[in-house]
Amino acid sequence: MSERILIVGSAGQVGVELQRSFADYGEITARDRDTFDLADPEQVRALVREVKPSIILNAAAYTAVDRAESDLEVAMAVNAQASRVLAEEALRADALLVHYSTDYVFDGSKAGPWFETDQPHPLNVYGASKLAGEKAIQQVGGKYLIFRTSWVYGPHGNNFLLTMLRLGNERDQLSIVDDQVGAPTTSIELADATRTIVGGVLAGQFGSTENWAGLYHMTCAGSVSWCGFAREIFAQAGSRLHGKAPVVKGITTADYPTPAQRPRNSVLSNEKLNVRFGTRLSSWKDALSAAIARLPEK
Ligand SMILES: NC(=O)c1ccc[n+]([C@@H]2O[C@H](COP(=O)([O-])OP(=O)(O)OC[C@H]3O[C@@H](n4cnc5c(N)ncnc54)[C@H](OP(=O)(O)O)[C@@H]3O)[C@@H](O)[C@H]2O)c1
Repeated sequence: MSERILIVGSAGQVGVELQRSFADYGEITARDRDTFDLADPEQVRALVREVKPSIILNAAAYTAVDRAESDLEVAMAVNAQASRVLAEEALRADALLVHYSTDYVFDGSKAGPWFETDQPHPLNVYGASKLAGEKAIQQVGGKYLIFRTSWVYGPHGNNFLLTMLRLGNERDQLSIVDDQVGAPTTSIELADATRTIVGGVLAGQFGSTENWAGLYHMTCAGSVSWCGFAREIFAQAGSRLHGKAPVVKGITTADYPTPAQRPRNSVLSNEKLNVRFGTRLSSWKDALSAAIARLPEK
């Protein structure tokens, strides 16, 4: 099997894991902000036309949720306009485009898990820009997969796991929001599930494009609050903590104001993904153990 694979956002959490997961699947061209600017449509077009990929994995995004509130133009350029350009270029090249989106397209008001058919209603600029990106790709059409995921973390990058381990080594007590619930999902699980599904799609396992192209929720199984997630991190951290685990105190969203509002219930149903592709991601606790095992020993 030799595909030409273009990974954009290759230095991000998911981008790094995609490079690992797809390493045996073809010739990878990995690009990030240091070599091109996704906010410039001409650079995006030129990159795709130069690489001539059969698969485009878009792991790039403007992910600074709070900063986006005062940086709407750039967030829209990266998350919405660049997604459209990538979709147009994928269509032109007859390439498969894989794109990631977010639980933050929802307002969190639902009692149960969110389905792909539920009405999005973003509470913040980041969510609105990601929703605009989804819509742009769907309008262009072609061979595309949009995976909406949530609470992404892993062994690399800026994320909740690494922040908790750092703070846990500095403080005796932490106050963490306990009234926002979601499914923590590792970059490792996302990349491996993407690899499995892309492999199946290109091997013809799921039939013609109209049978599989579309939007799917893709998260680890189960759900927890940020506070519960922090407690489990410290329960599993072992030697990654130098001393005793800190006491984790639950607080409310109102106690921890941020520029961007966040959904209370971010839990996404993975049923459509499971039924269509037979793919299930691990439980969030098992995925956490695997991510911690990948961290360097202190
Ligand atoms: N992180 C989460 O909790 C979360 C939750 C739900 C969905 N998602 C989605 O999952 C996908 C992967 O997220 P992630 O957590 O891996 O994000 P990440 O670690 O922030 O990586 C995103 C990458 O995109 C790059 N990038 C940003 N602006 C760019 C530009 N103008 N030109 C070129 N590259 C640019 C970033 O470079 P810099 O680092 O230099 O900015 C970074 O390397 C994204 O679509 C995101 O929206 C993430």
